[in-house]
Amino acid sequence: MIFGQVDQLRIRDAELSDAAAVLRMLNELDEETRFMMLEPGERGLDVARFAGWLADLRLRSDCYLVAGEGSEVVGFAHAERGLYRRNKHSAEVVMGLLPRARGRGVGTKLLAAIDEWAARVGVTRLELTVMAHNLPAIGLYSKRGYAAEGVRRHSLVVDGQPVDELVMAKITE
Ligand SMILES: CC(C)(COP(=O)(O)OP(=O)(O)OC[C@H]1O[C@@H](n2cnc3c(N)ncnc32)[C@H](O)[C@@H]1OP(=O)(O)O)[C@@H](O)C(=O)NCCC(=O)NCCS
Repeated sequence: MIFGQVDQLRIRDAELSDAAAVLRMLNELDEETRFMMLEPGERGLDVARFAGWLADLRLRSDCYLVAGEGSEVVGFAHAERGLYRRNKHSAEVVMGLLPRARGRGVGTKLLAAIDEWAARVGVTRLELTVMAHNLPAIGLYSKRGYAAEGVRRHSLVVDGQPVDELVMAKITE
């Protein structure tokens, strides 16, 4: 499904054929920013394994969106639901954009598309974690209705330094 467009960038569901391009984008992001979970090189380059994970996610009707032009992917957002009856209404959101895609409203559109997916599949809680000093991301999430629920103190170590994460969530019903 196509969810919208920013200039030439189209926001759409990821296809299995996007696996290599998505993995390339994720590795580039890991190199460029310290705000994602993985360190440079930690993600690996196993396209088949990544495509398998994507296929499983699609089978469960979870959500993986990409922003891209043609076969190039410059950003993503995904949301995975809980696996059990008591938490399948709740989904964990992760997102990131390469620098050339930032500051153009793409993140806003990706999160709006996640909201559409949530309404379609009956997800009523969207949650995420964000490094407490990642002010651009916190600004975006706040604008999209996510509220801070608490701090996970020293939950990460980045470049040898302890980092706190905020838990943020949005109730969509
Ligand atoms: C965080 C991120 C997803 C934002 O996406 P984006 O497409 O650049 O955001 P948008 O253009 O839709 O901006 C929406 C809002 O986000 C906030 N924002 C975005 N960039 C910002 C910046 N550089 N400084 C401060 N606030 C910023 C603002 O509140 C903005 O609203 P405004 O335009 O009315 O001021 C993007 O910067 C990114 O991928 N960063 C690196 C990876 C990352 O941090 N991922 C999130 C991990 S939790």
